[in-house]
Amino acid sequence: MLKGKSIVLGVTGGVSAYKAVHIASQLTQASAQVDVIMTEAATRFVAPLTFQAVTGRPVATEMFGLGSNCGIQHIVLAEAADVIVIAPATANTIARLAAGIADDLLCCTVLAAKSPVILAPAMDANMYENPVTQDNLSKLQARDFITVGPASGRLASGKEGPGRLAETSDILAAISQALGRESDLAAKHLVVTAGGTQEPIDPVRCITNRSSGKMGYALAEAARDRGARVTLITAPTSLPRPARMQIVDVCTAHEMHTAIRDAISQCDALIMAAAVADYRPTRAAKDKIKKEAAELTLELERTPDILGSIKGAFVKVGFAAESSNLLENASRKLHEKGLSLIIANDITARDSGFGSDYNRVTIVDQEGKTDSLPLLPKRQVADRILDRVAKLLG
Ligand code: PMT
Repeated sequence: MLKGKSIVLGVTGGVSAYKAVHIASQLTQASAQVDVIMTEAATRFVAPLTFQAVTGRPVATEMFGLGSNCGIQHIVLAEAADVIVIAPATANTIARLAAGIADDLLCCTVLAAKSPVILAPAMDANMYENPVTQDNLSKLQARDFITVGPASGRLASGKEGPGRLAETSDILAAISQALGRESDLAAKHLVVTAGGTQEPIDPVRCITNRSSGKMGYALAEAARDRGARVTLITAPTSLPRPARMQIVDVCTAHEMHTAIRDAISQCDALIMAAAVADYRPTRAAKDKIKKEAAELTLELERTPDILGSIKGAFVKVGFAAESSNLLENASRKLHEKGLSLIIANDITARDSGFGSDYNRVTIVDQEGKTDSLPLLPKRQVADRILDRVAKLLG
């Protein structure tokens, strides 16, 4: 979403201004064109040269800077911007934006902009919780300004509370989401499942599988970045939690079934990348099973077939994790479960599938047409699947 995009990064005079260097670096590495505007106060915390070194582009610090190109700088920057992000956004800048003041380059540029504007507030907790700051933020949010954070935790003053600059990953997610706000999944609600369910044997042990959740999380993030409202229903994983989506944590197949039923009332598409247990222990022991007997036999029973039982006027996409007869088994599941598409993946391949950052899938539709993709990063696989979902959603 970021490649080739023009991002204006406004940096204001807060102690977390140094974190904006990382944001600028991440955006530049994602092949975005980053134009930094610094307020005078920001230059007291970080030298403009640092940003210029990271972005490879001149840094704007003055309204009437002599180095500015022939155009009126704030107009040029505003018209070129695909998105403006102000990180950190101090209470002072927030107040001036809310009042429409335009006596410095950053506020002028924002006032002249038609692109989305993202604010990442960062300040002392008392300043953030001050009613006037809250009023200013509410005014700006009512004018479609997007806010990210602040996070809560230890502040420069040594106190704890809200006021820390949001994590860079959350700010980058907000930028991607803003860039994708008019993409092909805009205004659609997608429910995505991820990870491997855990079926309890006793309070300590469970039956699970090797799903890492990467495929499902890639689908959720890709859908978010294409403008969708996303509900991610996830079994336990060790992945960072994706930003800017609703996340429902589940453990068992039964909990996942319940969570999906609750989530799909207004959904446009359900994509089940989760590895849901087909069997669970008939009885989960209340106490930890002692290793006394030489053998232990577990009695298992079937879990609900979630995809097969969920009905509704939404696109249903399933995955088929197969170790043989890939297309035959996948097609059978597509028809048995009444799916719109099924994504067949050979889980015996060492370079893809469970746990891998890559997947090699074949997309099968209801007419039996197949689209076999090469080995791709899971995010690219996700976008190819969402291309098909977007088409089905018309
Ligand atoms: O998570 P990763 O490490 O990234 O690995 C990705 C993956 C290999 C887990 C993923 O690509 C994948 O194949 N997910 C589906 C795994 C699975 O349960 O496949 P299956 O063939 O057993 O089930 C078929 C479909 O029915 C799946 O969409 C599954 O979510 C669903 N299902 C399964 C069991 C069940 N009781 N109810 C279901 O709805």
